[in-house]
Amino acid sequence: MHQLEVLLTPEQLHTRATELAQAIRADIGDAPVVLLGVLKGAFPFLTDLSRALEGDVLIDFVQISSYGDDRSSSGVVRLIKDHDVNIQGQHVVIVEDIVDSGLSLRFLRELLSVRQPLSLKTAAMLQKDVPRDLDTHADYIGFVIPDVYVVGYGLDDAERYRNLPYVAVLSGHSPAAG
Ligand code: IMP
Ligand code: MG
Repeated sequence: MHQLEVLLTPEQLHTRATELAQAIRADIGDAPVVLLGVLKGAFPFLTDLSRALEGDVLIDFVQISSYGDDRSSSGVVRLIKDHDVNIQGQHVVIVEDIVDSGLSLRFLRELLSVRQPLSLKTAAMLQKDVPRDLDTHADYIGFVIPDVYVVGYGLDDAERYRNLPYVAVLSGHSPAAG
């Protein structure tokens, strides 16, 4: 079995999502905002963020793939599902679970910016504390965490643990468990 060590509690995550929603509203003002959740991992953060956002909110999803089931990035990002909402002339916030290498974020920014949104920002609940290019930082960051593999609050290990209401560090394999 894997060991789960709680890093961020449901209360911490929920409070931070509310604070980020307020920061987004302070920047955008009263205008409509399009939240583009990045499937699959962004769904709990998108839920918390969208419920805390006042005013006009449109929700859509994109899906990309950069990780296989093996906990290491392939370095190649693919678009699996595009959004349906027209983002031209809209304030858009890409909602991500976690920024690690920043490759996914850079891919999405390049893809979406040519569609001429009024503004394009990124919110990530977690950002790993690893060296990276400046342009791959999220604009709204919940928590900066150490460079460890985490699960829960949308994050998975081979599709498991996304349902956990907390973020935990995943470690340890039982040799018998297979
Ligand atoms: P990046 O392109 O390297 O920034 O990777 C971003 C994506 O990799 C995230 O949206 C996650 O789906 C996945 N990822 C990165 N680190 C973790 C982790 O610690 N646990 C689970 N998934 C992760
Ligand atoms: Mg992801």
